[in-house]
Amino acid sequence: MRSFSHAEIKDYQKRILELKKEKNAIILAHNYQLPEIQDVADLLGDSLGLSREASRSDAEVIVFCGVRFMAESAKILSPGKIVVQPDNESLCPMAAMIDAEDVRQLKKEHPGAVVVAYVNTTAEVKAEVDVCCTSANAVKTIQALKEKDIIFVPDVNLGMYVKRFAKGKNIILHPGYCPTHDDITVEQVTALKNEHPGAEVLAHPECRPEVIDIADWVYSTGGMVTHSFSSPAKEFIIATEKEMVYRLRKEAEKRGIDKTFYPIATAICPDMKKITIDKLVRGLETLSPAIELPEELIGKAKRPLDRMLEIGR
Ligand code: 13P
Ligand code: SF4
Repeated sequence: MRSFSHAEIKDYQKRILELKKEKNAIILAHNYQLPEIQDVADLLGDSLGLSREASRSDAEVIVFCGVRFMAESAKILSPGKIVVQPDNESLCPMAAMIDAEDVRQLKKEHPGAVVVAYVNTTAEVKAEVDVCCTSANAVKTIQALKEKDIIFVPDVNLGMYVKRFAKGKNIILHPGYCPTHDDITVEQVTALKNEHPGAEVLAHPECRPEVIDIADWVYSTGGMVTHSFSSPAKEFIIATEKEMVYRLRKEAEKRGIDKTFYPIATAICPDMKKITIDKLVRGLETLSPAIELPEELIGKAKRPLDRMLEIGR
């Protein structure tokens, strides 16, 4: 990945502010984006918060700084808008672990089961399922379903986490996982805890069960922001992708609150880092690469996303 000097970044950021106005564009960015991208975003958030914003924004253009499934969800929820993803090779490896045929097969094996898909899936997979969820509302979504048999795809770690709150339900899991979160170890978290015994451990539900077991709290990335500023604790160990700590430090500075955040230094999502500041400028200048999806696919994939937004956070 090319890196830029401080002066180059400032120049690019200035250009982005001009282009945003010129194109009537809004920049949505996920909490794992590079710091210089986070700094120019109109909205920084988790998958659910960004989907909500995409569904109600009145900008003509959405520039989505995040992985493909996130930009696709924005397009599905706002099909009339131009949705630009500055690097269309920024994919989510977990989303690539399941395809539409896998879902059809699971439905055949478990007739009558309701199918819940984590939003970290392709539009083709969403078109096959009943309802989507994010890490922020997965537990609530499962609890809201009246069916006993639930197929949950593709994240086995999130699925096992949800199972803890779904007594009496039969949850059928798929073996997908997030390589970035699955690699976070109990040893890494414990070492940080020994160094900072007063810190609360916040873990993302994509972590393995043994990491979840030693966490004080389990949250989506948006939930981590809310919790950090409502908790009396001053220090936090953040068991998720490392750029989340930039987001939290920025938030503490903005609010003028003294809080300290410790990242898992090795937890990096390489795909999130493909969106660089020069590509963001180019995306705004050319309004490409834009997300294009067949109308019929949008129609089918929108249903489970709309249902997710109705169930809420
Ligand atoms: P959040 O919805 O919690 O931001 O998570 C998205 C994601 O891709 C986590 O790896
Ligand atoms: Fe996908 Fe994991 Fe990256 Fe999130 S952190 S986008 S789940 S690979």
